[in-house]
Amino acid sequence: MYPWAYILFLVSVVKVQGQDFAWLGGNKLSDKPSVIDLPGGRSGTGVWQDSNNTVWMFGGVGMTSVATTTGGSVMLNDLWRFALSNQTWRQLHPGTVSNLTVATSRSPQIPRPRQLPAVCGTGHVMVLFGGLAEDDEALGDLWVFDTGKKVWRLLVDSYSGGLEIRNETDHDTTRDVGPAPRGDSANWCTSSHLYIFGGTNSSSFLFSDMWRLNLKDFTWEELKSSQEAPTSLRNHQTADYPQGRNGAMTWLSEMETSRTLYMFGGNVLSKYPRDRHIASGYTSDMWEYTVSTDSWRYMSGSTQPGQPAAYGRLGEMSSSSVPGCRRGGAAWSDTKHLLWLVGGEGADEETPSTVRSAKLLSDLWRFHPMTGEWEWMGGSKKGDTPASFKKKGRLMHTGLPGGRLDAATWKEANSEAFFLFGGLGHDGVQHDGYLSDLWFIDVSATITYDFYVPAVYGFAIIFGGVALVLCLSVMALYARDRSKPPQWRRGGAGTSYSQLHDSDT
Ligand SMILES: *[C@@H]1O[C@H](CO)[C@@H](O)[C@H](O)[C@H]1NC(C)=O
Ligand SMILES: *[C@@H]1O[C@H](CO)[C@@H](O)[C@H](O)[C@H]1NC(C)=O
Ligand SMILES: *[C@@H]1O[C@H](CO)[C@@H](O)[C@H](O)[C@H]1NC(C)=O
Ligand SMILES: *[C@@H]1O[C@H](CO)[C@@H](O)[C@H](O)[C@H]1NC(C)=O
Ligand SMILES: *[C@@H]1O[C@H](CO)[C@@H](O)[C@H](O)[C@H]1NC(C)=O
Repeated sequence: MYPWAYILFLVSVVKVQGQDFAWLGGNKLSDKPSVIDLPGGRSGTGVWQDSNNTVWMFGGVGMTSVATTTGGSVMLNDLWRFALSNQTWRQLHPGTVSNLTVATSRSPQIPRPRQLPAVCGTGHVMVLFGGLAEDDEALGDLWVFDTGKKVWRLLVDSYSGGLEIRNETDHDTTRDVGPAPRGDSANWCTSSHLYIFGGTNSSSFLFSDMWRLNLKDFTWEELKSSQEAPTSLRNHQTADYPQGRNGAMTWLSEMETSRTLYMFGGNVLSKYPRDRHIASGYTSDMWEYTVSTDSWRYMSGSTQPGQPAAYGRLGEMSSSSVPGCRRGGAAWSDTKHLLWLVGGEGADEETPSTVRSAKLLSDLWRFHPMTGEWEWMGGSKKGDTPASFKKKGRLMHTGLPGGRLDAATWKEANSEAFFLFGGLGHDGVQHDGYLSDLWFIDVSATITYDFYVPAVYGFAIIFGGVALVLCLSVMALYARDRSKPPQWRRGGAGTSYSQLHDSDT
């Protein structure tokens, strides 16, 4: 654009609301290897936050501690710890794909490298189930990690999977019942259970079953609603059971009297494998699962895949606002039980195509479960917007994380501050790759800031104003003409005007 065009753009300023992003650290560039106090770029990592404000992070796909000769990414099985108190990382073990140390050859067993596992935990115990290994090979193993003793233990090698092996007469085999190998499932981690819904396996099969793992005795139970969902309907939309999918976003709402799980979007078409990045299989439907009644309820959004976004006005709740279809967004809930969503891979306001790759999104949304309405809260309305890093550690409305999918997220206990780490997406120089940047979003306050309006609107306001003033002036002149006599006379005998007037006649 020419310089004058910029000048025209800065004509008027209005106040709008939005949320600020702060870049806390990590690399601005993608595909950076791990160092001892900073994990390498990665996506689909497994994250669990314990009650001590410590975040445990396992594996994913991305960069190990050595730059590989091919420069490519690998599946990881390293373990990291992030302390929220001082916002520092520490590598606990570098995994078996790393060349950094020989320590791992002495450690008895650690889980295979993988991405998108289901991770949860309680007290000192972190639980890891399944995930996708190289070439999307689905894993079905169950591990626990003792955060005190820092050791892994394998509980079950792999479940044969699902209902098929259920045998009520043989108790030995029923003990082995658990979900079929899978990854990229929808996961919820409560204080007592790990819930999983759906996911995918190596042949791109999309599951629609729902299981929960008891965190005390590590036994799985397939939920009744899942068993009762008619098999023929499992991969189709029904009013009261979501269709099978992977890459869905999830939220957990735990109140004193009730526990509710929410699920949004994901991919519902198995003909598009994950690595095709085709948005026409992604949905934008919001579902609610009530634990006490073991039932699903459709809330809002489109169950038809491939729908674009309707942003509406920034910071305004509306029944017509809806995020574009997507998978792999980052999600968290705040202390007011509102559900937040940032980014993912999918569609902005443009309808996605079946031939072009999905866009990487960096929009920020808020969902109100009471009304079922979405609210666009900030970030970019346009997909594939590059990252804007600005000053490190400062909350700024001009800061913007690059569009990404399968990032990790966690939050500070009892605060409205959220962390966003890594993912596959756009870095600071408009390259796509595995990210290791750490962002912070404080949603405790709605921030009001200046927003420049394009010249067209500015000129419309100015010209409109001028026209109005002219119009009023003409009317005033006309009115003055008509009302002249009473006005002159109003002064009465004591005024010079009436004297002048009188002397004239
Ligand atoms: C580890 O180092 C060896 C020798 O330096 C190299 O051949 C190998 O590719 C490295 N492995 C990885 C995963 O980078
Ligand atoms: C940060 O906090 C953690 C846990 O409280 C502690 O282990 C670690 O040493 C601290 N790191 C720094 C650099 O202070
Ligand atoms: C929390 O941290 C304290 C002090 O480091 C430790 O004694 C305690 O075991 C930790 N609790 C959990 C659940 O990790
Ligand atoms: C269940 O287990 C019993 C005892 O091992 C066996 O006889 C029976 O065939 C099994 N049924 C099925 C459906 O696998
Ligand atoms: C994926 O799951 C489906 C349904 O259970 C099964 O038929 C298929 O064989 C599985 N694929 C692989 C590679 O295990």
